[in-house]
Amino acid sequence: MSKISAAITAVGAYVPDYVLTNKMLESMVDTNDEWITSRTGIKERRILKDPSKGTSYLAIQAAKDLLQKTNLDPKEIDLLIMATATPDMPVAITSAYVATEIGAVNAFSFDLVAACSSFLFGMSTAARYIESGKYKKVLLIGADKMSSIIDYTDRTTCIIFGDGGGAVLFEPNQDGFGLQDEYLRTDGIGRQSLKIEAGGSILPASIETVSNKQHFVYQDGQTVFKFAVSNMADVSEKIMLKNNLTNDTVHWLVPHQANKRIIDATAKRMNLSDAKVMTNIQRYGNTTSATLPLLLNDYEKQLKKGDNLIFASFGGGFTWGAIYLKWAYNI
Ligand code: UT7
Repeated sequence: MSKISAAITAVGAYVPDYVLTNKMLESMVDTNDEWITSRTGIKERRILKDPSKGTSYLAIQAAKDLLQKTNLDPKEIDLLIMATATPDMPVAITSAYVATEIGAVNAFSFDLVAACSSFLFGMSTAARYIESGKYKKVLLIGADKMSSIIDYTDRTTCIIFGDGGGAVLFEPNQDGFGLQDEYLRTDGIGRQSLKIEAGGSILPASIETVSNKQHFVYQDGQTVFKFAVSNMADVSEKIMLKNNLTNDTVHWLVPHQANKRIIDATAKRMNLSDAKVMTNIQRYGNTTSATLPLLLNDYEKQLKKGDNLIFASFGGGFTWGAIYLKWAYNI
């Protein structure tokens, strides 16, 4: 019997309706459209305004979109992995609630936390379950309500992030399509450069931490930028070389949407033309765990069976990596 690989067989997505533009941010903090556009490539982002809804809402909508597109019976899902940096709440896993709400009553589930690389690491995890032969349908969701952890008086972070969710279905494939190779890395050197200082076990939330705004994202942008630029490009180039891929045989780069300049540097190292680089940072900003599935959803119609895709990400921790996947279907 030929080897089982894990193929993506369906995609779904959801972004909230509310659009926060650069122009609107100009009236909130000391910034301007020209600075944001030239430094990040972002024009607008989506925000989940309803305070009663958390990340699970984004995940459920994305999963429902996939279920509706495919007519998949949610009872057939064996495993649901929820990649997120903004779970609904600590301890009670978000994925369990999402699975119940979408009717995936036969699935077990868990949350996977790896900052902006959560979805990429989730792809690797989903693939191992499929490759084992024991799991036939694994739903991987990447969703983040970044607006819940952003200080909208801090111009260095509030211009970057947005809310969104995306979902992909992994199924076994024995014709050579699906996940081919991966190169995943972490380095604790990044611990202080991108973090939420309070609310964890080292510094539990208190009146003081809240008044010091330590429950919001802090980022040393320049340091993160330097590591992101070199590491995302390095792993993307490495995975190409290891798999004898060239700029002709790579059809698409699917890069984490943190900064257009980081995306461009990665594409340049891979010698790829702009036409092969998926981007939607201009419309959604950085949606953390949702960037990769949102890209797949936006570009799904252009993807052809057999296309070689390189996924790449970089995030807090630090976490980063690249995955080589052969696309499995046409629509
Ligand atoms: O997804 C997880 C991984 N995250 C990333 O990969 C993000 C990596 N970092 C970045 O994308 C960039 O570092 C940022 C977009 C966050 C910042 O861009 P930068 O080119 O690194 O800017 P900077 O921090 O070096 O700041 C340059 C100047 C500073 O002013 P001075 O000191 O030169 O007078 C900042 O105070 O720009 C100022 N500045 C702003 N000006 C207008 C910082 N934020 C803003 C702003 N509007 N929003």
